[in-house]
Amino acid sequence: MKTVESEELFNDVSESFGDLYGQFNRNIRTHFVSSILDKKNINRVLDVGNGGTNPEDILSEDIAKKLGLFVGNDSSFDMLTRTKRSIGVSVNSDALLLPFKKKSFDTILIMSMIHHIGFSSEEKDLYSRLRIFLKNLIPLLEEGGCIYIIESTLPRFFERLERYLYLPFYTKILRKKFIPTFMYCSCDLQNILNEYFDYDISEYKWVYELFGSKWEMMAPTLYFKWLKLPVVFSPYKILFYKCRPKKK
Ligand SMILES: C[S@@+](CC[C@H](N)C(=O)[O-])C[C@H]1O[C@@H](n2cnc3c(N)ncnc32)[C@H](O)[C@@H]1O
Repeated sequence: MKTVESEELFNDVSESFGDLYGQFNRNIRTHFVSSILDKKNINRVLDVGNGGTNPEDILSEDIAKKLGLFVGNDSSFDMLTRTKRSIGVSVNSDALLLPFKKKSFDTILIMSMIHHIGFSSEEKDLYSRLRIFLKNLIPLLEEGGCIYIIESTLPRFFERLERYLYLPFYTKILRKKFIPTFMYCSCDLQNILNEYFDYDISEYKWVYELFGSKWEMMAPTLYFKWLKLPVVFSPYKILFYKCRPKKK
């Protein structure tokens, strides 16, 4: 199985990523740190699909300074190195093949990454790669540790368009074997996560709710970077999910 499908896409956008989604990501992180993060119990952190973001920008300077370990993982070398690492280390590997020992972390962050796990056209099940990813992740967390997932999701109608127009277009017309993005419908993603985790917090916010004004402009997709629209027209709901692996 080919594992790193989104590498090319992100190597391509690494230079413009900060300009495109810098404000959006800052707004997401502000909400995350103020309302979701357990600030007392965070010491050894793995950030999967890190995108070259430093811990002080994700978690605040105070928290970042006190960390025992910060590992930023990403499959795209260009994304990892688009900024200078201030604290911690960068690990360039696919999220489906993370090279860490069991129980290495008390906190795992997965921010805006799940929709890039991708889909291989040879697979029948859209969710099989996501399930492999989640299964492999759980042993890396120490007892009592916590996983935070922040993910853009689509209402069912848009997910149907994606499934029945975008996927066939990619696989049948462009004849691509790998699709580097697939946004999940909020309820499908939640159902899969609930198979593996018990959650403490599960909250959805429309994109515009994370901005000061509904009329701020943002490109809804990396594929059409030039198409900027007011955030009030963004169809995404952002899932904030704080969870622990289910006890066997
Ligand atoms: C939308 S960016 C989010 C970056 C960062 N987490 C943030 O919130 O700003 C998604 C990141 O996930 C990385 N990524 C995509 N597929 C990956 C995979 N299979 N393994 C590891 N990283 C991956 C991309 O290279 C990219 O840097």
